[in-house]
Amino acid sequence: MKSLPSKALIIKINLVFLVCFLVAYSALLHWQLSSVYHEYSTSPIRCTLCECHHKVEAAGTKINALLEESMVNETKTILKKMVKHKKPSFMKEIMGRGMKIGMVNLEGEDVSEWIVHVQIITVQFQKVSELLEWNDLFPGQVDEELEEMDDRQTCPEIPMPAFYSYSYMDMIVVKLPCLYPQEGWRRDVFRLQVHLVAANLAVKRRRGKNGKMKLIFLSKCRPMMEIFRCNELKRREGDWWYYEPNMVKLAQKVSLPIGSCKLALSLKGKEINEVSMKLTRREAYATILHSSGTYVCGAITLAQSLLLTGTKRDLILLLDKSISEPKRDTLIKAGWKLRFIKRIRNPRAEKDTYNEYNYSKFRLWQLTDYEKIIFIDADIIVLRNIDLLFQFPQLSATGNAGSIFNSGVMVIEPSNCTFNMFMQRTKDIISYNGGDQGFLNEIFVWWHRLPRRVNYFKNFENSNEVNAKNQLFEADPPQLYAIHYLGLKPWVCYRDYDCNWDVGYLRVYASDVAHKTWWKLHDAMDEKLQKFCGLTRQRKTELYWSRKQAEEMGLKDEHWKINITDPRRFT
Ligand SMILES: *[C@@H]1O[C@H](CO)[C@@H](O)[C@H](O)[C@H]1NC(C)=O
Ligand SMILES: *[C@@H]1O[C@H](CO)[C@@H](O)[C@H](O)[C@H]1NC(C)=O
Ligand SMILES: *[C@@H]1O[C@H](CO)[C@@H](O)[C@H](O)[C@H]1NC(C)=O
Ligand SMILES: *[C@@H]1O[C@H](CO)[C@@H](O)[C@H](O)[C@H]1NC(C)=O
Repeated sequence: MKSLPSKALIIKINLVFLVCFLVAYSALLHWQLSSVYHEYSTSPIRCTLCECHHKVEAAGTKINALLEESMVNETKTILKKMVKHKKPSFMKEIMGRGMKIGMVNLEGEDVSEWIVHVQIITVQFQKVSELLEWNDLFPGQVDEELEEMDDRQTCPEIPMPAFYSYSYMDMIVVKLPCLYPQEGWRRDVFRLQVHLVAANLAVKRRRGKNGKMKLIFLSKCRPMMEIFRCNELKRREGDWWYYEPNMVKLAQKVSLPIGSCKLALSLKGKEINEVSMKLTRREAYATILHSSGTYVCGAITLAQSLLLTGTKRDLILLLDKSISEPKRDTLIKAGWKLRFIKRIRNPRAEKDTYNEYNYSKFRLWQLTDYEKIIFIDADIIVLRNIDLLFQFPQLSATGNAGSIFNSGVMVIEPSNCTFNMFMQRTKDIISYNGGDQGFLNEIFVWWHRLPRRVNYFKNFENSNEVNAKNQLFEADPPQLYAIHYLGLKPWVCYRDYDCNWDVGYLRVYASDVAHKTWWKLHDAMDEKLQKFCGLTRQRKTELYWSRKQAEEMGLKDEHWKINITDPRRFT
């Protein structure tokens, strides 16, 4: 095995020779030129690093000294680059005699300090092509139906080392690329590649099946917490980060697709009875009500829909005191366990805007008595058991658009460490939509794709998909796992039709079929649970006006003509 430090030393020596040669050469060149152009002869470069001290001329001393200094400076920077990083002080504690240390992406770093009593293994891999972009790993959509049928490989490949040609290791030292503060620095394919090399190496080259691995990163940016979890960071000193990962979790991570280019999970042939046997104590479903009572009816219906799937997991509802006592009682009756939280304001949001308190969702990470949470927005109903999702790591979700996941259904792992990190970043991370979704997408850029059917949007991108989608919305027994009611929520419409039809820009969300599916679930609930699904007087007025406007515009679908029979029109 070739060891890096001796290589580094050779490089250093070569460098000095190269510098000497270049300087000597340029001096020679200059001497030749100056013999022709005499006017330039006052600035001779005669002094080189190699022979500076015995060639000082009285006349040119000052200039020479200056030039000398700049030469030395240049050489110094080159050398400095190689020795720049002082070994962190905690190395003494974790480094042992005879250790085998894998070095990843440390070419150009002077690691001679490290070699005492240890064996260095330089891990080689081919750098990923510059042509491969983040969007290739995280495309807007994948053909899920095709994928579920023949399980095809749809992800591009990222070069990896020949892991099994290396011996077992006790520690891995990795230099991580960090393009910060360049825009989009988090979505850097090379950065991901080096993380994955380190993670795979740790899993595949640890000693024994239950072996541990120490990882030391050199980086200006925090290592990706999607791979190296927040609480696995043991020490930090400047640009040095020391991790002791949970190897079971890391092994699962590296077994997943390298991007959302492929589903992390196939639902093909999976049924309730296969999956509900697992330990259930430390897992829960959760949702949140923040800053307004309008979603209470949605949360009640969601709880009821979850219970109908036969799940045995806890149902946790985060809320604050702005939700009234009678509402809280009903939420409990519906199946929720209540957890009171303090809302979190988005410091970048305008006052009194609809998303001012959306960062309250971060409180989910404080549910540390649970190992895993499936978060579900209160405007979703679940139609089939999704306990299977508890087997997936943070952060698993369905796609939204582009490389972004939708935060309506997410698998997350509570952790005070992660929560605290969010709170430290609320000022500097810019959420593209001002909501939690934008924020979380900046933290978890490496996420795992769940099938669309566990968070199926009620919207139509074009007229071709109307029939197929509506068939799914009404299928009985259900084919979808959950429906996400985008646009105006079913409980703020009359049950007679989807009131998104009456508002120009919301018509892409209108589906009478999906509307009916929600009301069917609602009607199956105990009557006592339905009492917060009524319409306020104000809402009824709004409905009146939007119907009237639709009529005036003469909208062709003529939903505005439908006679309202919903008894809620009287209450
Ligand atoms: C060399 O570097 C020193 C500081 O490191 C600086 O003060 C000096 O001006 C530099 N000399 C030249 C010629 O650049
Ligand atoms: C997380 O912090 C809360 C207090 O904010 C504490 O009650 C809880 O025990 C902590 N959880 C863990 C796992 O340390
Ligand atoms: C903020 O939360 C509200 C209520 O849950 C939701 O309707 C809205 O879409 C969220 N906004 C963003 C930008 O996520
Ligand atoms: C709605 O009701 C009115 C009378 O109340 C009736 O004349 C009309 O035909 C009904 N329209 C539809 C579409 O049923």
